[in-house]
Amino acid sequence: MPQILIINSTTREGRFSEKAAAWVVDQLKGRSDFTVDLLDLREHPLPFFDQPMSPMYTLRDYPSEKIAKFGRRVDAADGFLILTAEYNHGYTAVLKNAMDHTLVEWRRKPVAFVGWGNVGGARAIEQLREVAVEFEMAPLRHAVHILPDILVPAIQAPEPFDDSIFAPLEPKLKVLADDLAWWTKALADARATAD
Ligand SMILES: Cc1cc2nc3c(=O)[nH]c(=O)nc-3n(C[C@H](O)[C@H](O)[C@H](O)COP(=O)(O)O)c2cc1C
Repeated sequence: MPQILIINSTTREGRFSEKAAAWVVDQLKGRSDFTVDLLDLREHPLPFFDQPMSPMYTLRDYPSEKIAKFGRRVDAADGFLILTAEYNHGYTAVLKNAMDHTLVEWRRKPVAFVGWGNVGGARAIEQLREVAVEFEMAPLRHAVHILPDILVPAIQAPEPFDDSIFAPLEPKLKVLADDLAWWTKALADARATAD
C-alpha cells in the first residue's frame, strides 16, 4: 500500500504542531488506501546545509548517517502531508534546511498541507508550493487551514488535550486525504512504469 509521510515541521519547545500532528494521524491512520508514517523533524536534527555540491548532483551519496536516515524516510514515502506553522510569513527554517539536504527523494510525488496561524498558514503553504515545484513534486490545491477561531483555544486548552476541537475541520481533511490518495496512486503507478 502507498505510504504517506506526515511531516511535523516545527521543533520549538511548547509547539502547537504536536496537537495538529496527533489529530491528523488519528484521522488518517484507519484509511484503506494508504498508510501513514509521522516524521518529526525533532527526531532528525540536521546540520545547516554546507555541502560543496547540491544534492541535485550528489543524489543519495549522503555526507553523514544523520542525513542518510532522513533521506531514506523521504525516499520510502509515496506522498507527503506537511504540517506547517507560519513564522514571519514563511515556513520554518528547519524544514527548508532538511529539504535542502535532499532532492530526488521527493521527486514525482504529491504533497498536501495542513497549516495554522493568523491566516491558517496560507502564506507559508503558498511558499512551500513554489519550493515543491523545484523538487519536481505535485503540490495539491486542497489544504486544511487552522485559523485563530480553532487555533487559539487549541493552544490554550488544558491537558489532556481533547482534539474534538478540530472536528469542524474533519470534512476538509477528508477531502484533502481523498485527493492526496488519488495523486499518490496515480504518480506511484506512473513511477513504476516510466523513468
Ligand atoms: C518566530 C515566530 C514567528 C511567527 N510569525 C507568525 C506569522 O508570520 N504569522 C502567523 O500567523 N503566526 C506567526 N507566529 C505565531 C504562530 O502561528 C504560533 O506561534 C504557532 O503556534 C506556531 O506553531 P508551533 O507552535 O508549532 O511552532 C509566529 C511564531 C513564531 C515563534
